[in-house]
Amino acid sequence: MAMLFFYAATIASIIITILLVLHVLDRKRSCKDPLFIDWPLFGMSLQLLYNLSQIHDFLANVLNRKGGTAEFMGPWFTNMNFLLSTDPMNAHHVFSKNFENYVNGPEFRDVFDVFGDAIIATDDLEKWRYMKSLFLSLIKHKGFDIFFEKTIQNKVKNSFLPVLDHAWLQGTVLDLQDVFCRFTFDNTSLMVLGFDPKSLSLGFPTVEAEKAFDDIEKCLFYRQMVPKSVWKFQKWLQIATRYESLDAKLLRDYGFNFFAAGRDTIASVLTWFFWLVASHPAVEAKILEEIEKVFGAVDRGNYKILSTEDVKKLVYLHGALCEVLRLFPPIPMERKKPIKADILPSGHVVDSNTNIVFSFYGMGRSEEIWGKDCLEFKPERWINEKGGIVHVPSYKFISFNAGARTCLGKDMSFIQIKIVTSAIFQNYRVRIVKDHSDEVTPSLSIILLMKHGLKVKITKRQV
Ligand code: HEM
Repeated sequence: MAMLFFYAATIASIIITILLVLHVLDRKRSCKDPLFIDWPLFGMSLQLLYNLSQIHDFLANVLNRKGGTAEFMGPWFTNMNFLLSTDPMNAHHVFSKNFENYVNGPEFRDVFDVFGDAIIATDDLEKWRYMKSLFLSLIKHKGFDIFFEKTIQNKVKNSFLPVLDHAWLQGTVLDLQDVFCRFTFDNTSLMVLGFDPKSLSLGFPTVEAEKAFDDIEKCLFYRQMVPKSVWKFQKWLQIATRYESLDAKLLRDYGFNFFAAGRDTIASVLTWFFWLVASHPAVEAKILEEIEKVFGAVDRGNYKILSTEDVKKLVYLHGALCEVLRLFPPIPMERKKPIKADILPSGHVVDSNTNIVFSFYGMGRSEEIWGKDCLEFKPERWINEKGGIVHVPSYKFISFNAGARTCLGKDMSFIQIKIVTSAIFQNYRVRIVKDHSDEVTPSLSIILLMKHGLKVKITKRQV
């Protein structure tokens, strides 16, 4: 009996060893351009986990050093392998030229299940075209522009500026990121649901739905970092199956997509903008100078909220915002999957099992695209000789995505951000709290916010 057990154990060990050797050989064969060393069992995940707190900078550096495209092999038997890229020609190929061959894929819809079946996540081209035309007919409607402008202007005047005034009078430290998130949450709710939850009010009330959004975004990032089986099991433990009617689900999906698209993306740009501008006084002076040149000396204290037509004249401010979007893209990565096998312009072969991840963050900091000064905050790079905005193709300036599925809220976003920033600039000076700059680091979330918020002091500009 003991002998029998011995033989069985020996045969089992030989089979396991052969399988492991084959597995290692298979990984070596399929990975021609490794991102890091592929360790037994853990694959390349150790380096990633070790650098998790600085993941975007870390990946940007490694990818740009490796010529823009490399392969990441996850832990053994987890199916977490990715082809990572910052190559603009690959982006052009995937998002524009060969767009119908590249989808979000079932894994994406699994991880991002909260997006449901609406415009951002759907891979059904018919459905997507229909939803896109619906969305465009809404925002191109004559009445929408006026409704949009009035909603933003009222919110800035009646909620945003009074909160800043209060912080100035009390001399309190303000988390500006929290203020922006509340502002965009109320606005989106007003536009999508016709209801103002007034999360941006003195006293900063807790609005459960707003907090829930932060949690969802962090959870979606986490799901991309751990094997599927782990988060599936956690989900199974946490949620009991609920009944939801089809109509209610569709409505919720549409609502969630608009909240996700418009809320934290805008808050992210506003937050990084004020951080960059506070540390670049020359840029701050030029923005103020432009506002005063276009609209005359500002009547401080008499809040003038600019209109959509007004803010279109602020070219330097536009350039500064493009710089923020380049250096801190609110959606720092995007993943795609081919339907059929294909060869990318970088020479990498992909098939229906390949997960391609574009680091938009890395593309914004690529020397190949932006030149040697790619890490500097220079609004001037966006201004042409005629004083207009330099056109950069979307597969290079990719913060709003590229090709057919380019963000539909791009123009709206610029208008909203410019109305808010110009209102703040005319009336207040924003200063980062001493020592807080050391704490400024991106959060681990699908939207690039600041992990510890943006702590500032507000003073009123003198007449
Ligand atoms: C600075 C702010 C914003 C940035 C950086 C941004 C960025 C993006 C990106 C990267 C995508 C592609 C997402 C994907 O395919 O996974 C996208 C899609 C989209 N965005 Fe935005 N977005 C912003 C604001 C908005 C706003 C305010 C709206 C309007 C409510 C909006 C509406 C949409 C829609 C509808 C799509 C889906 C487009 C499609 O698949 O055809 N976005 N956006």
